[in-house]
Amino acid sequence: MNTDVPYIMECKNITKRYPSLNQLAIDQVSFQIDKGESLGLVGESGSGKSTLVRCLLMLEKMNQGQLYINGEEIKYTNKESMKILRREVQAVFQNPSASLNPKLKIIDSLMEPLDCQKTSLPCFLKGVNQRNEIAKYLLEMVEIPEKYLNFYPHELSGGQKQRVSIARAISIQPSIIILDEPTASLDVSIQAKILNRLKDLQERLDLSYLFISHDLAAVNFMSHRVMIMQKGKIIDKCNKQDLFLETRHPYTKLLLDVFEG
Ligand SMILES: Nc1ncnc2c1ncn2[C@@H]1O[C@H](COP(=O)(O)OP(=O)(O)OP(=O)(O)O)[C@@H](O)[C@H]1O
Ligand SMILES: [Mg+2]
Repeated sequence: MNTDVPYIMECKNITKRYPSLNQLAIDQVSFQIDKGESLGLVGESGSGKSTLVRCLLMLEKMNQGQLYINGEEIKYTNKESMKILRREVQAVFQNPSASLNPKLKIIDSLMEPLDCQKTSLPCFLKGVNQRNEIAKYLLEMVEIPEKYLNFYPHELSGGQKQRVSIARAISIQPSIIILDEPTASLDVSIQAKILNRLKDLQERLDLSYLFISHDLAAVNFMSHRVMIMQKGKIIDKCNKQDLFLETRHPYTKLLLDVFEG
């Protein structure tokens, strides 16, 4: 690895405490993600995955720790660094219905990041000029027919809405997309389609992902490296080909046993 190039995302010792919880929700979490790398995060319900996501997106204040995006430290108090965070980190959440404004047509939700960010168009949209054409192109990337641009979210299925959320996240070509259980609310047949599409887009656009799930099979499919979280701590980390080694943490082995049925 070229050590002159900063990590796309690096976090050090992120810690989050909720007064009502008698243990830390996030306990000294550190990791790095390279360009084009997909890092999987797996852990049972309540282990702290979504809390970590909210800390990484600065939607919640961490009690301790640092976050760096492309080598820049991100701080609440520094407006310029928060702009970097909003520009370079996008997220797709579990519930597609909650991420689209029910009052906005699909085209307006889809184009919101590009409408707001006054930066130049990402390279994969170069040569596509009008707003309508860009929206059509983005929908095509996630295999949704253009007629849906003028529909409202309630006229789309869960899987279609999630694909719109993915297209929206990709639209400004961020450095990294955080995917917090992106397929958990969907039908099994749709889950596989969406994971395939996400993987394809990642390779095509050289995106980095933090892919989160409690489903080890999905994490194994999507990621180059895997981290295991338990009670707010990262208790194991490895390349995905080393997941099945005998020397893995006992909790990782327990998850693998469940996964293998
Ligand atoms: N706002 C909050 N106030 C107090 N406790 C919270 C808050 N948000 C989350 N928690 C607690 O923090 C812990 C981690 O929750 P979190 O939602 O991050 O888990 P998760 O790994 O994302 O679970 P799931 O797989 O079910 O989505 C849980 O014990 C949860 O009850
Ligand atoms: Mg969660």
